[in-house]
Amino acid sequence: MQYAPAANRYSQMTYNRCGKSGVQLPAVSLGLWHNFGSIDNFENGRSIIRNAFDKGITHFDLANNYGPVPGSAEENFGRILKQDFTGHLRDELIISTKAGYTMWPGPYGDWGSRKYLVSSLDQSLRRMQLNYVDIFYSHRPDPATPIEETMGALHSIVQQGKALYVGLSNYTAEQTSTAVAVLKSLGTPCLIHQPKYSMFERWVENGLLDVLEANGVGCIPFSPLAQGLLTDRYLNGIPAGSRASKPSGFLQEGDVTPAKIEQVKKLNQLAQQRGQSLAQMALAWILKDKRITTVLIGASSVAQLDNNLDTLKNTVFTKEELDAIEAILK
Ligand SMILES: NC(=O)c1ccc[n+]([C@@H]2O[C@H](COP(=O)([O-])OP(=O)(O)OC[C@H]3O[C@@H](n4cnc5c(N)ncnc54)[C@H](OP(=O)(O)O)[C@@H]3O)[C@@H](O)[C@H]2O)c1
Repeated sequence: MQYAPAANRYSQMTYNRCGKSGVQLPAVSLGLWHNFGSIDNFENGRSIIRNAFDKGITHFDLANNYGPVPGSAEENFGRILKQDFTGHLRDELIISTKAGYTMWPGPYGDWGSRKYLVSSLDQSLRRMQLNYVDIFYSHRPDPATPIEETMGALHSIVQQGKALYVGLSNYTAEQTSTAVAVLKSLGTPCLIHQPKYSMFERWVENGLLDVLEANGVGCIPFSPLAQGLLTDRYLNGIPAGSRASKPSGFLQEGDVTPAKIEQVKKLNQLAQQRGQSLAQMALAWILKDKRITTVLIGASSVAQLDNNLDTLKNTVFTKEELDAIEAILK
């Protein structure tokens, strides 16, 4: 039966303005790094995406290399769009993709040259069966390519209508300042920055968030649940089917250390006192900062996604709660 999105989808979500742009993004966005590749169950991924849209998630984040195999998350997403997001529904979506990590062999399939970024986006558009993406990112800074070339490529891509906006990912505060200034001089403002940020990974607090705020750039932190560590997933060991249990995942068994789990158990208790799951508390903790536009989560099931969406019922912390979290994280 043809998918019909929930009529009340926009009343269930909070939308935040992305920096000083015209774009609003849902407070929770969904990424397709894991769980949507050719090794994964297609119908499971499809139901997660449909459920996300039914709950007001309008933003889906991809990259050329998401899979495995690289490229297959874009292919699967393209199939889902074709099957389910027919008619004008494309206009209700913000779809992003990126290039910056190894995608094909040879000197033109990696990093930040104009050659790589332009041809990679052309490949992504073909895989997703799209005419344009909403946001195209430089996935990581390239120390060997002039920043003017990388930013010039992003600018050209917008001029050509292949992307509406551009973003940066994994750039330091200093690299971001420079890149944002180059983009501004070209007349293509930087819409958004995508850094890794969670209770366990806090580098953005030392300068990046200030740079973004000063320049009117939005922020979409990735892996806000530390790939599942900041949930109840690993409280009692490493369950079968979890990311840490899989050879293809980026979370390794060795990352689930006794010291980490000790902290996670204490955080979990605090979350329970707040009447939240640990995942919800971890997401709320990021969203409490008004410089954050949206949290970019992953999910391997509809139940996880729903649990994460309930975060929005309580994103307020008392000073005592924040102090208690800091004490645990020390
Ligand atoms: N720009 C970059 O360089 C970069 C790098 C990495 C990621 N990203 C983006 O960020 C997105 C999110 O990254 P991520 O997947 O690492 O995010 P995450 O939200 O930190 O981790 C997602 C994983 O946590 C577990 N999980 C989620 N909700 C849960 C819940 N309520 N209860 C228990 N477990 C839960 C699931 O693991 P299980 O699979 O074990 O169930 C899920 O796959 C990616 O899809 C991608 O779009 C960008």
